[in-house]
Order: sequence, then C-alpha cells, then structure tokens
Amino acid sequence: MLDHDRLERAENLWLGVATVMTALLLAGVFVSFLSGTFPQLKGGHAGDAGRQVDPTNLAVTPFATPGLRPSAAGTPADLYIVAKAFSFEPAVVRVPAGQPLSINVTSQDVIHGFYVEGSNINIEVIPGQVATFRHTFTRPGTYNVVCNEYCGIGHQNMVTRFVVTA
Ligand code: CUA
Repeated sequence: MLDHDRLERAENLWLGVATVMTALLLAGVFVSFLSGTFPQLKGGHAGDAGRQVDPTNLAVTPFATPGLRPSAAGTPADLYIVAKAFSFEPAVVRVPAGQPLSINVTSQDVIHGFYVEGSNINIEVIPGQVATFRHTFTRPGTYNVVCNEYCGIGHQNMVTRFVVTA
C-alpha cells in the first residue's frame, strides 16, 4: 500500500512537471508571435505586416535611392534593395567584413526571390511588403544573390552580389 502511495505521488509530481513545461512552451510561442520573432513570420510575411510600401511609388520611400547607408561604428547599417523584373538595385553591394547589416528588400512589380548563395538568407520578396533581416558577413569574398522565384522571361538573369572586403 505504501508503495502505491509513493507511486501515485511520483506520478502526480511528473504530471505537474510536464504540464508546467507544456505551458511554458506555449507561452514562449505566444510571446515570440507577438514580438514578431517567430522565425516563419520573417521575410515579408505576416510578421512584417506593419512595414508596407506602395510599390508604384517607391520614390517617397528610402528605396528611392537603393544602397548602403553609412552607420556609426559597430551599429547595423541600413541597406535598401529593390527587386524588379529583371534586376536588383544596386547591382553590387560593397560592404566591409564584420559590418552588421539591416537588409531591407522590396519588389516594385511582381514576386521575386532573394537568395544569397552559401547562406541561409532566402527571402520571398513581395510587392508592397518590406522584408527585413539582419546579417553580418564575417568572411571577405563575393556572395552571389539570385532571384529564385520564377518571375518571367528574364528571371535567370536576375542577380546581384555582395562584395565583402577585408
Ligand atoms: Cu525575379 Cu525571378
């Protein structure tokens, strides 16, 4: 009988532990959802809903002058990239290794892709939406960027690149 009581207490204890862990997990998912850090919401989807631009009037946005903005040492530099059929602007981005980047990409016409070869940066670029992500290139070299969403006749020519300097 004693053993049975002990077992029941142990059972209840672990049931409680499992319940608390499940609650913490759900709370974590919920909080990351609210703060927009839920991974699948990055890249121009629901998490960026507040960051929209008029694709027919990029002239009134920072995308009017695509490229890298200067930043104070060690702080993320804003980079604006416009995707359009069938090119990216700017065609080349030069950036020093170790410079944190806040990369903003939008499309002025149809859906494009933004895939940086050899990295985990792979974004769907949707007209009207600003996809923003942070990245720091740590090693000098050339990193090709391709459009990997079929967007029309010139799709395969749609490339840009990062030239990361030492
Ligand atoms: Cu742009 Cu494919």
